[in-house]
Amino acid sequence: MRKLYIAGNWKMNITPSQAVEYAKKLKDSDIDKNVKVMIAPSFVCLPDVCRALNNTGIIVAAQNVNNNQKGAFTGEVSCEMLKDLGINDVIIGHSERRQYYCESDELINEKVKIALDNNMDVILCIGETLEQRENGELKSVLKKQVYTGLKDVSDSDIFKITLAYEPVWAIGTGKTATPEDAQEAHSYIRYLINSLYGEKVSEKIIIQYGGSVKPENAKQLMACPDIDGALVGGASLKIDQFLSIINVNK
Ligand code: 13P
Repeated sequence: MRKLYIAGNWKMNITPSQAVEYAKKLKDSDIDKNVKVMIAPSFVCLPDVCRALNNTGIIVAAQNVNNNQKGAFTGEVSCEMLKDLGINDVIIGHSERRQYYCESDELINEKVKIALDNNMDVILCIGETLEQRENGELKSVLKKQVYTGLKDVSDSDIFKITLAYEPVWAIGTGKTATPEDAQEAHSYIRYLINSLYGEKVSEKIIIQYGGSVKPENAKQLMACPDIDGALVGGASLKIDQFLSIINVNK
């Protein structure tokens, strides 16, 4: 039985002082014990949010990390810096990083590997654009993203990876994939993991859905057999909405 994993990606929203207020409210909220919960604030919020959520079981993650251990990379943040703050989780390969910062599958694979080398857990984001879907390229895009993104990731490290299927056309647009479309993509992703790591791993790996997840559609999406959680953008900025997604089965 896979545990539901609900994560909030705040993107470039919420200031450090607002973040602490949010974290304190989250800490005091009634959260379904059967759900793994994570929030990913911006880098500048991480120290205070980590402190506020220390020992709560709520995971604090980074939204990105550099692919080098250290050095002359102005404006970048390393795994070592995150680990020093007590952060063990990072989102890698978000479509906004792919789209606006030209992150390729190969670069994303380097980031995945450096995070694993630093003993971090990773949410690896994948998903097709509208154009790719309309051209019938859904499966080939997902296959390249999974195979290249996970290149040289060992059988023992694969358990440190969560996959997030986020169709680009559904992110921030209010257009959610239908549960049927999302389930079809998730089942294919699980099949790809099976082909790389075998059935045991593919049955265990967590695959989140992301793209306009809201309190109104979360239940239907989370009820799909291969959807094991959500990576929530906009709706995670409002704590009440995020809590109702977390407590979707309560
Ligand atoms: P929205 O929930 O705002 O569509 O964003 C999804 C997302 O990109 C999460 O990483």
